[in-house]
Amino acid sequence: MKPRLGFVDSEIEQIKKNHLYRKLRYGITDGSTITIQGKKLVNLCSNDYLGIPTTKLKIKQMQSSSRLVSGNDESYLTLERKLAKHKSQQASLIYPTGYMANLGAIPAIAKKRDLILSDELNHASIIESCKLSGAKISIYKHNDMKDLKQKLRQKSKNKFVITEGIFSMDGDFSKLKEITEIAQKTNSITILDDAHGDFVVGKDGKGTANYFGVSKKIDVYISSLSKGLGSFGGYIASEKIVIDLNINKSKSFIYTSALPSFFVEYSLRRFDSSREKHRKKLQENIKLISKGLQEIGYTINSHTHIIPIIIGDEKTALDFGKFLFQNGVYAQPIRFPTVPKNKARIRLSVTAWLSQKDVENSLKVFDKAFKKFMR
Ligand SMILES: Cc1ncc(COP(=O)(O)O)c(C=O)c1O
Repeated sequence: MKPRLGFVDSEIEQIKKNHLYRKLRYGITDGSTITIQGKKLVNLCSNDYLGIPTTKLKIKQMQSSSRLVSGNDESYLTLERKLAKHKSQQASLIYPTGYMANLGAIPAIAKKRDLILSDELNHASIIESCKLSGAKISIYKHNDMKDLKQKLRQKSKNKFVITEGIFSMDGDFSKLKEITEIAQKTNSITILDDAHGDFVVGKDGKGTANYFGVSKKIDVYISSLSKGLGSFGGYIASEKIVIDLNINKSKSFIYTSALPSFFVEYSLRRFDSSREKHRKKLQENIKLISKGLQEIGYTINSHTHIIPIIIGDEKTALDFGKFLFQNGVYAQPIRFPTVPKNKARIRLSVTAWLSQKDVENSLKVFDKAFKKFMR
């Protein structure tokens, strides 16, 4: 190590000391399993919630340039029209990832002298995007409508309320009915990041706002194509003028290469596939796993496909994860800063890929883990 990089070493040492060190693992995912170093494990941390089988595609155009230059394949138009309809909005715009959709869209519409109300459990990409906008950021307590109302009393030019639909680390729903009502009363703009609810909940998988019957009350949708749809990319959906503003201002849209059209085609195939039967299977799996875990003795507060098992301290969460791995289950311990300190957890994500046998085998391992770590 070069002496001038000594500070990096100290930082890594500190991370390790706090049991917050992360390292990359290389694996091969296939359906409900992942194989790591020759060990086949049931994959309980995939975001490919619907488990739509892979389709073969011919690559006709892999990469060209940014979309405003020559990377704007015709397939974009087809998918964007479908996504706009899917969200009951006038138009939509695809970004290379969901993270980039947030990074581009939030600063494009919110700016200095505006006020953003953001749920305290919002995803890192929302937090960073709000900072980039230059607007005043006011964090309201998680799903706390009293706090939201109180904080919306502050004076500002435009007001925005930003929330996730299904929270990525807790798996609970945001209170969208109340949020949209409060937003309307205070003339605030509602932005919904529905990365985890999209394609999974609501009629035909239209997402969390549809699930709560408030689709039209959302002003700007932000979502990912990499989770429920199991493809890759991100998008926003809103009124035409908002999309137009993003085409003109959104830096992570303008100054980056277009998502290769291969992924757009892939998303189209998946969007047009029979998603409903996969959503049904997913719901069955959620019921099986939640019920099984509760019968073992775990406290489960989530009603969705994201099921956190709260452990508390980081070291125990790591040991818990290691135990699962050794016994054939892959589920990652999630630690600070992804979740607050001492709220480390094993975050299970249920997918439609899982067979009944996968579920039964995993539950046996969770039973052993409960006796070892939770008593
Ligand atoms: C709430 C939320 N928004 C955005 C993203 C980013 O989406 P993508 O993976 O497409 O970049 C994530 C990813 O986990 C997320 O949980």
